[in-house]
Amino acid sequence: MIPRATTQDNVSHATMVRRVIGCVAMFFAAVGVATAQTPLERGSYLVNAVMACDGCHTPRGPSGFVMEQRFAGGSQAWDTSAYTVRGSNITPDRETGIGTWSDSEIRRSLTEGVRPNGAPLAPQMPFAFYKILTPRDLAAVVAYMRSVAPVRNAVPPPVYKAAMHAELVPGAEKPFTDEALRDPITRGFYLATIAHCMECHGRRPDGVQDYKHALGKGGYVFTGPWGAAVTPNITSHPKSGIGAWTDAEIKRVLTHGVSRDGRAFQQPMARQAYFSRMIDADLDAIVAWLRTIPPIE
Ligand code: HEC
Ligand code: HEC
Repeated sequence: MIPRATTQDNVSHATMVRRVIGCVAMFFAAVGVATAQTPLERGSYLVNAVMACDGCHTPRGPSGFVMEQRFAGGSQAWDTSAYTVRGSNITPDRETGIGTWSDSEIRRSLTEGVRPNGAPLAPQMPFAFYKILTPRDLAAVVAYMRSVAPVRNAVPPPVYKAAMHAELVPGAEKPFTDEALRDPITRGFYLATIAHCMECHGRRPDGVQDYKHALGKGGYVFTGPWGAAVTPNITSHPKSGIGAWTDAEIKRVLTHGVSRDGRAFQQPMARQAYFSRMIDADLDAIVAWLRTIPPIE
């Protein structure tokens, strides 16, 4: 009996060691992801899995994005009382895109919302949400944008009609450090910010962003050719919000674009094409952060 027990102990000890080594490796794989990748790989991940630039900058056809015209703009338009704008051509085409802009000019447009000539961009371009980008991630996004194919497509110029205001996201007004992203909740906030979740989920029913009183509260109605969709309450409230949902149910919202009951979401939240590419550790981080949103009835 004793030898058998010893053998078993040895086996389970060896298994434990393997598990611990496995966990340590997974831990480094998760936290080291920003450093182990090349800038181009990191930029591709951020643009394609998290920041969803295609949604506003890639022309849409009857069967989805027209990938031969990727990032050539012109198709999505927004008409508000302050501006009429279209997603710009952000390919490296030198005449109709941003091919002549320097890296620092592109960085400035992404985080400060100004063109090289100093003209402001409409806040439809979520630059207020990109101020939080770490210097490394900002450079990675620029490197990726420079690597895409140039496409010639002249987009009608924007029309600005009134003063434009971009609401800053509390806690996200300046660049984060790579160090800070090691903490899952902080990383969740970071990822949710650059995915501009709160542009939609931080609005009051009248559409005004109010991160202090309406964070996650919902009630704003999005309308489009596809119909209408109301932002639901995504605070941690157990009844009105998503406080009672499991982690898996919340992750499924992001990766499959369906609600808890399996209903497919309308266009504003049909973001699964992007978010399903996120690594699990990042999805977990977003869920961890969502759970910290104070409950609102
Ligand atoms: C929610 C929609 C939206 C998303 C998401 C978005 N943009 Fe934009 N972007 C716009 C609009 C609209 C404009 C034009 C604004 C204007 O003309 O005032 C713009 C302008 C720009 C410009 C300035 C180009 C020029 O010629 O003026 C750059 C560069 C840019 N976006 C890059 C990006 C990148 C890179 C991403 C993803 C990391 C991104 N955008 C995500 C809507 C968006
Ligand atoms: C462009 C606006 C927009 C953005 C950006 C957005 N959402 Fe949503 N979200 C919505 C709308 C609208 C719905 C409801 C869709 C419907 O009912 O068809 C929704 C639904 C949800 C739900 C489901 C809640 C429920 O009760 O069914 C969750 C959770 C959620 N969003 C979280 C997020 C997170 C996290 C992000 C960022 C990673 C995000 N959303 C980005 C507009 C948006």
